[in-house]
Amino acid sequence: SLVTSEKILMDAQRGNYAIGAFNAENMEMVQGIIEAAEELKSPVIIQTTPGTIKYGGLRYYYSNVYAGASAASVPVVLHLDHGSSFELASGAYREGYTSIMIDGSKLPFEENIALTRKVAEMCNPGNIPVEAELGRVGGKEDDLVSNDDIYTDPEKAAEFVKKTSISSLAVAIGTAHGFYAKTPVLDVNRLTEIRKVVDIPLVLHGASGLTDEQVMECIKRGICKVNFATELRDAFSKGVKKVIGENPDVFDPKVYCKEGKECVKELVKHKMLVCGSVNTA
Ligand code: 13P
Ligand code: ZN
Ligand code: NA
Repeated sequence: SLVTSEKILMDAQRGNYAIGAFNAENMEMVQGIIEAAEELKSPVIIQTTPGTIKYGGLRYYYSNVYAGASAASVPVVLHLDHGSSFELASGAYREGYTSIMIDGSKLPFEENIALTRKVAEMCNPGNIPVEAELGRVGGKEDDLVSNDDIYTDPEKAAEFVKKTSISSLAVAIGTAHGFYAKTPVLDVNRLTEIRKVVDIPLVLHGASGLTDEQVMECIKRGICKVNFATELRDAFSKGVKKVIGENPDVFDPKVYCKEGKECVKELVKHKMLVCGSVNTA
């Protein structure tokens, strides 16, 4: 069923595991993610970025996830990933998204607080949890390179959480969106320091390209939600390309999209094992 992210993240925090949050671009990716969750009895978060929403529209993604979630026995969340404005956040809220991220991480500290607070106040009446970000997760999208001065400061994080009343916090400890040229070195001690002073669930962005051991180490130190996007897009496309490569005359999307879906499903099942969320639903 379609639920908010509150209980599944609190359960994960108490149980020292994490919930995988998987970015979907189309119906088949939604199906693959939900089938993986059903088979492994794991709660799951499906999320869409502003770029994805620009491509398909809020209603298409809501409808796809609602259809899959209603038929599922496990908890399924539909989350706005990297909400870029108050307007997009309120649009997703009105559409029925059950979890909202507002990403004010590029703003100065006080402005990030003000925007995040405003979104939290908008979501509070409907009990929709809000994720926000402090520090910066780099990546291709905005050409940011992670370096020390944009890692999350623990004291600032504590102040940020207190002043915004958010439900979860995305931290910057050296991860970046997309694949990495070489496996990054993560500042896991910083994560431990943040955990000591912040008591809400912490979120790890940019998990594509990390080793399973790195993800598990971060979960051990307090991460409760792990975001995977690039590896899912890659898996879907590899499946499609394989079928078309082997059979260039194929013209039925049902044929090659099915293989894309299966590849996404296998990848998601593996990530759920890494996150430790299997059999917790
Ligand atoms: P990756 O593309 O590196 O998996 O990052 C995912 C993410 O952080 C989505 O918000
Ligand atoms: Zn992210
Ligand atoms: Na990444």
